[in-house]
Amino acid sequence: MYLILVGAPGAGKGTQATVVKEKMGLPHVATGDLFREAQRQGTELGLLAKSYMEKGQLVPDEVTVKMVMERLSAPDCARGCLLDGFPRTLEQARALEQALKGQGKSVAAALYIKVSEGELLRRLSGRWICRQCQAPYHLVSAPPKVKGKCDQCGGELYQRADDTIETARKRLEVYFNQTMPLIDYYRQAGRLKEIDGEHSVEAVGKELLAVLASLEGGKRVRK
Ligand code: AP5
Ligand code: MG
Ligand code: ZN
Repeated sequence: MYLILVGAPGAGKGTQATVVKEKMGLPHVATGDLFREAQRQGTELGLLAKSYMEKGQLVPDEVTVKMVMERLSAPDCARGCLLDGFPRTLEQARALEQALKGQGKSVAAALYIKVSEGELLRRLSGRWICRQCQAPYHLVSAPPKVKGKCDQCGGELYQRADDTIETARKRLEVYFNQTMPLIDYYRQAGRLKEIDGEHSVEAVGKELLAVLASLEGGKRVRK
């Protein structure tokens, strides 16, 4: 099963990915995480991505699509995955559809986490992430058990360079202009599932689980 997490910067895609991963047993493919990992390793891709990410702009479609297709061809993605932060443009959505179609597959659902702009900025400005596994935390709403340390792997927590107020605003602008059209794209395809992301991490996770259960139910009915 191929699932997509859609939502603005700070909506909680990375946070809720854990819930989906555990429930569905799918690998988590997050383009932002892949680009940050490439930067950490100092690869050519990492350097290129950095020049866009630090300005809050999207990395060009061609580069992004190539990276994702490589990742999707790995054995662990053969039966599906959870895409987080991809697709982000109509061109990326079409490229994904084409690639899956070629293998007789398709996107089962686009899970859209909806959050208001003020709350997004509050979340981004208080976020800390793990240097090793990239798990997200928040100073107020999701603090780690031990200050500065990741609950999951013990890694050091740091603030992303693109979480400054100026870059966060730019990322939101880019989201509204380039990514919002995807919402209609998946709605028209009958695959959009809206989740109210304004509530607590637990409440949003619960709503997401209910949506996933309805998907599984749908599958059973079709069999
Ligand atoms: P990416 O890393 O994907 O960043 P993003 O889309 O801006 O999304 P975020 O990771 O900021 O937010 P999130 O929804 O994951 O929120 P989180 O769970 O962390 O992309 C970074 C950059 O890479 C892009 O700007 C672009 O340059 C490039 N890029 C990536 N993909 C690309 C693509 N496909 N094409 C081209 N370029 C691409 O939560 C945020 C905070 O809120 C955390 O602190 C968390 O603890 C807290 N929080 C979460 N949920 C709640 C809740 N319910 N209540 C209270 N607090 C909460
Ligand atoms: Mg994220
Ligand atoms: Zn960690």
